[in-house]
Amino acid sequence: MANPKSKIQNPKLVVLISGSGSNLQAILDACASGELHAHVVAVISNTADAYGLERARRANVPTVVCVKSKEQDRRAYDAELADMVASYQPDWVVLAGWMRILSSAFLNRFPNRVVNLHPALPGTFPGTHAIECAFQAYERGEIKHTGVMVHLVPDEGVDCGPVLAQEIVPIQSDDTAETLEARVHIVEHRLLVETIRRLVDSA
Ligand code: GAR
Repeated sequence: MANPKSKIQNPKLVVLISGSGSNLQAILDACASGELHAHVVAVISNTADAYGLERARRANVPTVVCVKSKEQDRRAYDAELADMVASYQPDWVVLAGWMRILSSAFLNRFPNRVVNLHPALPGTFPGTHAIECAFQAYERGEIKHTGVMVHLVPDEGVDCGPVLAQEIVPIQSDDTAETLEARVHIVEHRLLVETIRRLVDSA
């Protein structure tokens, strides 16, 4: 469907995943419903058994598995990955649960075009297990809430960069790590789609 707000008609997204792909699913659903005027042209995973690949196949989106071998140099892998992503000519590259730090060998190919989702607020709990770490910090009495952010990825900094959107997720006294995680995911799915929609509409 044409988007009157955007100069780029039907912007192309390449989504990078490593696992379940529930955020990928939110993007696919939003594209299918017309909530997001964009098109996922490829889903690339660095793990062969990521469930997100199955989600992509069900939506008839091309999938690529790009596993880094032990012998392969990190920058060489990133350059190969960048070639693969570039072959789809994306307007935006979305890291939706992509669990590898990308070097400049990748990022320099898509300046200001790589968007990352992280299940914590800016400057907190970078890397893996952010929700679990936040819950433990809550139990120690160090924090009262956590959150979600979506940001641009300018360099190799882990889960940091210009913030595009953030939202607080309160931690409730009867929360367990699991209930907190479920609420964080609900916020992620909405915030990621809203943020991509804003980017796409303003491009
Ligand atoms: C999401 O919670 C995402 O924010 C997180 O991985 C999960 C992927 O879930 N990303 C990071 O922690 C990045 N540091 P999904 O595969 O179901 O979308």
